[in-house]
Amino acid sequence: MHRLKEKVVLVTGAARGIGQAIAQLFCDEGATVILSDINDELGQTVSSSIKGKAEYHHLDVSKVDDWELIRRYIESKYGRLDVLINNAGITGFLETTGPHDPENLDIESWHKVHSVNLDGVALGCKTAIALMKKSTSASIVNLSSRSGIVGIPGAAAYASSKAAVRNHSKTVALYCAQNNYPIRCNSIHPGAILTPMWDAMLGEGDARESAIKAISSDIPLNTMGDAKDVAYAALYLASDESKYVTGIELNVDGGILA
Ligand code: NAI
Repeated sequence: MHRLKEKVVLVTGAARGIGQAIAQLFCDEGATVILSDINDELGQTVSSSIKGKAEYHHLDVSKVDDWELIRRYIESKYGRLDVLINNAGITGFLETTGPHDPENLDIESWHKVHSVNLDGVALGCKTAIALMKKSTSASIVNLSSRSGIVGIPGAAAYASSKAAVRNHSKTVALYCAQNNYPIRCNSIHPGAILTPMWDAMLGEGDARESAIKAISSDIPLNTMGDAKDVAYAALYLASDESKYVTGIELNVDGGILA
């Protein structure tokens, strides 16, 4: 299948997890994929292991200068961008041991989570719009979360940033439509997807298995999702099969929001 034939794609946070799965699937579907991340060693390794047209580029999504560098690089090498997957994200509450509830809010941690999850997506959309005007059919896919739709008491910054991503996606969708740009924009809302993001919380061995079972028991489909489950949703929104779809939120969550 070549559902993304001749598409030039940029995936952020592609060194592991959902971003890696998207990069692999999109290459399988005939796209040219630029993987990007802050973990350059892992990103290079993953990119070299992918069969197809893949390359790696450093990009810290929270940095304006990094976006300007990659914009110039893509413009000079490809002349346009067809798909942006704004995937890079941090939870804050999984990476640090500090509290992330509203009462004990730590403003530095709050800013850090928003700088990656929200500023990163906004800068990505801004950069992509400039590059996508030269495409005939372009798509921006933003990774929000189930937490962008419901409140999460122990993850205030994460939930707030992901809710903002959901809304910014709709704003970008309407803005592009009103300006007759050939650009659609949608958000994906994963539930619990088993990726390295969860490692710090799940632990190892038997404790890990028990934790996965406990999380799964709250999900109607009774299992955590795979990175590939999200990659297939991203494939639909990236491809021209969704050419009449913009401003939507697509839940990939085993039914937890049903
Ligand atoms: P992950 O933690 O396994 O991978 C995230 C990748 O982003 C890593 O390679 C990391 O180096 C990179 N990254 C972190 N900060 C960055 C920055 N400033 N600039 C560029 N890259 C950066 O995470 P996972 O699970 O693959 O999640 C991907 C996206 O999906 C995230 O936005 C996450 O919030 C979202 N998501 C994940 C869920 C899950 O259960 N795994 C659930 C809901 C949403």
